[in-house]
Amino acid sequence: MQEYIEQKFELGELEGLSRKQVEAHLGLYSGYVNNVNKLNASLEELSKDSEVNGYAISEVKRRFGFEFNGMRLHEYYFEQFENKIGVADPAFPLQQAIVKQWGSYEAWEAEFKTVGKMRGIGWALLLHDEKAGQLMNVWVSDHELGHLAGQKILLAMDIWEHAFMVDYLPSERGVYIDAFFKNLNWEVVETRF
Ligand SMILES: [Fe+2]
Repeated sequence: MQEYIEQKFELGELEGLSRKQVEAHLGLYSGYVNNVNKLNASLEELSKDSEVNGYAISEVKRRFGFEFNGMRLHEYYFEQFENKIGVADPAFPLQQAIVKQWGSYEAWEAEFKTVGKMRGIGWALLLHDEKAGQLMNVWVSDHELGHLAGQKILLAMDIWEHAFMVDYLPSERGVYIDAFFKNLNWEVVETRF
């Protein structure tokens, strides 16, 4: 069985997100990796007699999407803060695609932030529909509800309160979102496009 390995991220000092906040959040990420491995180990054991263990297997399968996406989305998230703050260079192909679709970078950012301010816990994602050549700002509840089939994740913003509750009040989500953008390395996002 393939074991998933916890990723390490090169994170310097972040603006508006304390070291304590980031460490606490990385600890939660670590928990998702552990749980994915535990669920896979359970599945391997239960699958030795899948007929008898049908009920237990279905519960593990149900849980799997939450833990796996929790792991993977946090990898997208923390990678975006790595190394340095990269400017959203208008010459980047993704920037050009954003401007083509929304009219301006600012119009796209305003819509993305609005998605991020929706009530509930989850993620705001910028997706690339490669089949149609379209970009989409999408809301995903929890980690796994609302993903669109076959879409490539370009940008992932964690909107769970655990992403900012060390530094901000729940009512200050907008301030957290501004901090998220200040630390974003657009060069990382661009490589996904
Ligand atoms: Fe998170």
